Amino acid sequence: MGKFVIEGGKSLKGEVQVGGAKNSVLKLMAASLLAETPSVIRNVPKIRDVFIMKEVLEHLGAFVDFQDHELFIKPSINNFETPYELVSLMRASIIVLGPLVGRFGKARVARPGGCNIGRRKINLHLKGLSQLGVEIRLDRGYIEATAKKIKGGRVFLEFPSVGATENLIMAAVLAKGETVVIDNAAREPEIVDLCNFLQSMGADIEGVGESILVIRGVDCLSGVEYSAIPDRIEAGTFLLAGAITGGEVYVSNANPGHLELFLMKLEEAGLEIEKKEKGILVRSKGYTNSIDVATFPYPGFPTDLQPQIVALLSLAEGISVVTENIFENRFLYVDELNRLGANIEVKSNRAIINGVKELYGAPTMAPDLRGGAALILASLAARGSSEVLNVTHIDRGYESIEEKLRRLGAQIERVEFKEEEAWANETTT
Ligand code: EPZ
Repeated sequence: MGKFVIEGGKSLKGEVQVGGAKNSVLKLMAASLLAETPSVIRNVPKIRDVFIMKEVLEHLGAFVDFQDHELFIKPSINNFETPYELVSLMRASIIVLGPLVGRFGKARVARPGGCNIGRRKINLHLKGLSQLGVEIRLDRGYIEATAKKIKGGRVFLEFPSVGATENLIMAAVLAKGETVVIDNAAREPEIVDLCNFLQSMGADIEGVGESILVIRGVDCLSGVEYSAIPDRIEAGTFLLAGAITGGEVYVSNANPGHLELFLMKLEEAGLEIEKKEKGILVRSKGYTNSIDVATFPYPGFPTDLQPQIVALLSLAEGISVVTENIFENRFLYVDELNRLGANIEVKSNRAIINGVKELYGAPTMAPDLRGGAALILASLAARGSSEVLNVTHIDRGYESIEEKLRRLGAQIERVEFKEEEAWANETTT
């Protein structure tokens, strides 16, 4: 357990390199189970969720070695159950359901609970799989999935769910002789990365990056060497760190094509943006315009950058409205931002942000991963000293965030807690 201690008010300047995309790498790890032979995945961030997914794969019998941002995975699967204690650590573990059913015709995965940002249902995953001939039984908190053979057919997703799209793709790629069409599929860059990974393993997928995917099942897949795409959410977070502190930051190893709408909104907010081949520069002009933002499935504004842009807009001139259309409870961090002097009101799925002239340092508690990132950004801009507690949330999705920020001139230190002291800081839920 730990906290970040931040001395705010410094403009961040310089270059920072982002790592591999958390929300791609976790799925590539699951997809490696579909192959008969080992895979190597590169550009893997050293973050908590990757270590948990490593444990999930090892529990299933795979051999996983993780050194220097590179994973070696031998898919020697001999167990088909993912226990609740692992799924409760990371709900994304549900993504092994598709590959296990696709390659072995069976899986027993604990139903993931909700999390702080919402219920995180999986009804679309289960409905889609059953339309492909998978028999789904709910048994004392576990999903029992069995399929003699994955059936071809068309699945129309009532919502372009990222996880449901991924599970369906991975269930379908080994359905030899069958064709599966996924309509209204999610189009996130992480889905494109998963499809590219599967195609390099020998899968037959048409329409990659589009909302209609056509998957023709093949007999078997082979392990490959593959490098994950950069993390667009980490890139956006560091661009906002430069923006909110009135600085100038170049994020290298970032793909501007993955953040088109986000960058448009930053320009609308008065920031200068320069897009390079493999990087993005943000330069503050010393002020921030108030703007309205609404989150939508890709290529819409990414929900995973919603808390962070709200932090920026808390210092904008005028009133901004940010609408969260993806998750039902993704404003938990707002009360914490208001402790720093922000003036934000949440009504239903909207945050009404009355821009203030300045924020001042105070202790805050990270309620979830991206809310925690928003509190770090606000603390960097606040006058005086701040603390952000519950950094375990933040370590799930950001590798050494404090070291990267220090390289940009931030005054931020990580202070570890002893267990009993940590307990005293737990929010009473
Ligand atoms: C992925 O979650 C990401 N996580 C999330 O990032 C991201 O916010 C989300 O996609 C949207 O882009 C990973 O990739 C590990 P969804 P996922 O299925 O797959 C509802 C972060 O901060 N829904 O598109 O769970 C669901 O409740 C995390 O890195 C159903 O109702 O997202 C949610 O409200 C947070 N039924 C909405 O759809 C279903 O069967 C979006 O969910 C599935 C989803």
